[in-house]
Amino acid sequence: MTIKSVKGFRDVLPGESERRKQMLDAAIGVMRTYGYSEIELPLLERGELFSRSVGATSDIVEKEMYAFEDRDGTVVALRPEGTASVARAYIESGMTRSSPVAQLYYHGSMFRRERPQKGRYRQFTQVGAEWLGRDDPESDAEMVCMIADIFNATGIEGVQIQINSLGDSECRPAHREALLAHARERADGLCDNCRSRMERNPLRVLDCKQRECQALMSGAPVMLDFLCGPCKSHHDRVLELIDAAGVSVEANPRMVRGLDYYCRTAFEILAPGLGAQNAVGGGGRYDGLVSELGGPQTPGIGFALGIERMVLAAGEAPSDPALSGFLVAPLGEDAAASALGVARRLRANGHRVALGVSDRKLKAQLKRADKERVRYVVIIGEDELASGKATVRDLAERRDHPACFAIVDSADAIVTALAAIASAEGESGREA
Ligand code: HAM
Repeated sequence: MTIKSVKGFRDVLPGESERRKQMLDAAIGVMRTYGYSEIELPLLERGELFSRSVGATSDIVEKEMYAFEDRDGTVVALRPEGTASVARAYIESGMTRSSPVAQLYYHGSMFRRERPQKGRYRQFTQVGAEWLGRDDPESDAEMVCMIADIFNATGIEGVQIQINSLGDSECRPAHREALLAHARERADGLCDNCRSRMERNPLRVLDCKQRECQALMSGAPVMLDFLCGPCKSHHDRVLELIDAAGVSVEANPRMVRGLDYYCRTAFEILAPGLGAQNAVGGGGRYDGLVSELGGPQTPGIGFALGIERMVLAAGEAPSDPALSGFLVAPLGEDAAASALGVARRLRANGHRVALGVSDRKLKAQLKRADKERVRYVVIIGEDELASGKATVRDLAERRDHPACFAIVDSADAIVTALAAIASAEGESGREA
């Protein structure tokens, strides 16, 4: 019997892996222009890191976390998200003193044991950014601008950034009471899960996916109506700055986030064509997280994007990708060594090069080049060996390129000539 992958865990095959890399490169490219540096975080953390940050009553911790006892009895968890780890690392590494204002980005696998469906997996990939040490509305606005710039760079169309304010510890209790009163009045109609959690955290009821619960809570009081003065002026200023930057956002007073550490600004990024799992990203401000984890009072704001959902939202790759790169085609055993040399020199110069098999006919090698969407075939046969000049066939133009060059005498000349041909025609075939 063959062994299958674990439910919710999947392979990323060539094609998709390239699309993912494009998304990741676009996001990282933009984040670097905003001054972020990469932080690499472990996949395994102490379980309590997430119960103390994401929240013990959150679905993520209560139902979805891959937590288990390590051999020494420590409860560990495969990370369900990156923000808590960034905050832990910020404290543990001493950045709280050495660089209290830190702009960090990360990417990698996250794990949540959710019910798998399109766009929802048990292992998925996030790229995220966290900005620690800033609490001013300018930083919130800049964060939203960065998200908009990332989506511009990916070319994903129709993305909507929704924004809300979740208040802070001053104004939240009154909203919580009002929400609880609303939920209690409707408790009979709520699902068991909501009934058991509403007293501990009534916000969770707003987050429930059951249709009946959603309907019963649709008229529930919203946080925006309870914001205290400082939270309200923060929120107004954030919206004003985003507007001044020309970035469009949609107010969503009903937005709730599935993680407990948020305060004030929260956002979600929605993309069309994703069905039920239409959030390509989410984030917000978390001014109490670092202190909750034992560090000094430090504000923070950040977001994470789901790479799988970005790829789905970007749609199919063009079925006819542009021709690029080289195939070096030796014709006969005698040409094999020269072909190997030419291919390696081209690769050393950054070109993507496939090497043909010397006992195949030219026709078969050209067929392979067509299939692999190669732009240039460098042919080295008997004639070429005799004359010391290789033939270059340009598959975009369907002709032999006029430029010929010595195969053996001057390897550098070959590379230079090929690179010149490639760049003159706007097709470098280079790997990034
Ligand atoms: P989140 O909203 O839980 O936020 O996740 C962010 C994004 O990760 C989602 O919008 C979605 O695109 C993707 N995602 C989440 N779960 C899955 C899944 N099961 N399968 C595929 N994609 C998924 C956070 O994780 C916060 N740490 C974001 C943040 C950073 N807040 C502040 N800083």
